[in-house]
Amino acid sequence: MQRFTLPRDLYHGKGALEALKTLKGKKAMICVGGGSMKRLGFLAKAEEYLKEAGMEVQLFEGIEPDPSVTTVMRGAKAMEEFEPDWIVAMGGGSPIDAAKAMWIKYEHPECTFEDMCKVFALPELRKKAHFCAVSSTSGTATEVTCFSIITDYDKGIKYPIADFGIAPDVAIVDPNLAETMPQKLTAHTGMDAMTHAIEAYVSTAHCNYTDPVAIWAIRMIQRDLVNSYNGDMTARDNMHDAQCLAGQAFSNASLGIVHSMAHKTGAAFADYGAHIIHGAANAMYLPKVIAFNAKDPEAKSRYAFIADEMKLGGNTEDEKVANLIAKLRSMNDALNIPHCIKHYGKDSYPTEQGFVPEDVFLERLPEIAKNAIGDACTLTNPRKPSQEEMEKLLKACYYDTEVDF
Ligand SMILES: NC(=O)c1ccc[n+]([C@@H]2O[C@H](COP(=O)([O-])OP(=O)(O)OC[C@H]3O[C@@H](n4cnc5c(N)ncnc54)[C@H](O)[C@@H]3O)[C@@H](O)[C@H]2O)c1
Ligand SMILES: [Zn+2]
Repeated sequence: MQRFTLPRDLYHGKGALEALKTLKGKKAMICVGGGSMKRLGFLAKAEEYLKEAGMEVQLFEGIEPDPSVTTVMRGAKAMEEFEPDWIVAMGGGSPIDAAKAMWIKYEHPECTFEDMCKVFALPELRKKAHFCAVSSTSGTATEVTCFSIITDYDKGIKYPIADFGIAPDVAIVDPNLAETMPQKLTAHTGMDAMTHAIEAYVSTAHCNYTDPVAIWAIRMIQRDLVNSYNGDMTARDNMHDAQCLAGQAFSNASLGIVHSMAHKTGAAFADYGAHIIHGAANAMYLPKVIAFNAKDPEAKSRYAFIADEMKLGGNTEDEKVANLIAKLRSMNDALNIPHCIKHYGKDSYPTEQGFVPEDVFLERLPEIAKNAIGDACTLTNPRKPSQEEMEKLLKACYYDTEVDF
């Protein structure tokens, strides 16, 4: 038996933010990030709509990108004091993910961060509050997913919390919020969405319910992402839907080792001021992982099918997979994303020598590979990498060398 879970209500289209007026409750806590929602006026609108719905509103502001366990615990404490019956998380993946984890702790104060990380084993939620997510980036789709990614900075590791219970009750996908994204954010979040759709499509847990949304998302992202990056606002609006479809697929089919590797490298060099942004990490690793996974015959056919859907040409499955890899690399070029960690610079743009020193990378490689294998996303990857293979794969992602193993 498999389960397919989505928010009960999904409001989409321009102006969908107004759906906040329909929430029924007494107290809402709005959780937001560092200031973009406030600066752009969306926070004030959200407050106004919730007050119109008759709710008392309190803000929890300042959730940092790649939120920490400490922030989660602080937010949960604020919730315990205010006692909201609605949690409204607004912004990119970071504030929404943090609010999901705060919600778990608020509902179950005895639950430790280690407890939360036990896959699909959370206690029941919704005894105290319901959850509404309003996304402002076009990538993570956390507004519809049963995942939350929290970083333990002491260990330098990102942990996915996964449970059907944390899929929000209400998702608001209003493209007005995504139109203000700067170019770099558009590129990274867009390639994150592409990775979600492709990994979900080849996941060992894919099914008849996840396949169609994954394929449709891939087609939309192929058509719209580069245009959106170049300022086409119709394409930008489409991307907001496309990433949400990709999220509907991966939330129910899970992901693969591109994400395992991104989770375990993202914060691994934070002590060198070197943070590898999630979407950029995925964009660099995806072509390498496709080459690795395509050694599995079923995965190869499924990648070939994706290439056909993208109308990339090719006569054999091998040619089609090669065309898919080439297409993704050309998208990275169009989006100004480097092809490997070695060339990933401080500003995330391609540079001759990136900010992750080679000797540090090699020294930490065995540990990072071990952690990546242990990541929850590895469970549904079509090929199970050994420690040696994962190290080779990560090296290929560092140097941009060919994957022929
Ligand atoms: N829960 C999931 O299923 C899932 C999936 C993939 C990634 N993630 C996680 O999500 C996080 C990344 O989220 P993200 O990529 O959405 O970025 P983010 O939330 O970290 O935001 C990045 C920056 O963009 C700004 N910003 C956000 N929206 C904006 C807008 N509309 N206009 C201008 N600026 C805006 C923010 O203020 C912030 O400074 C990572 O921690 C990643 O691991 C979660
Ligand atoms: Zn992702």
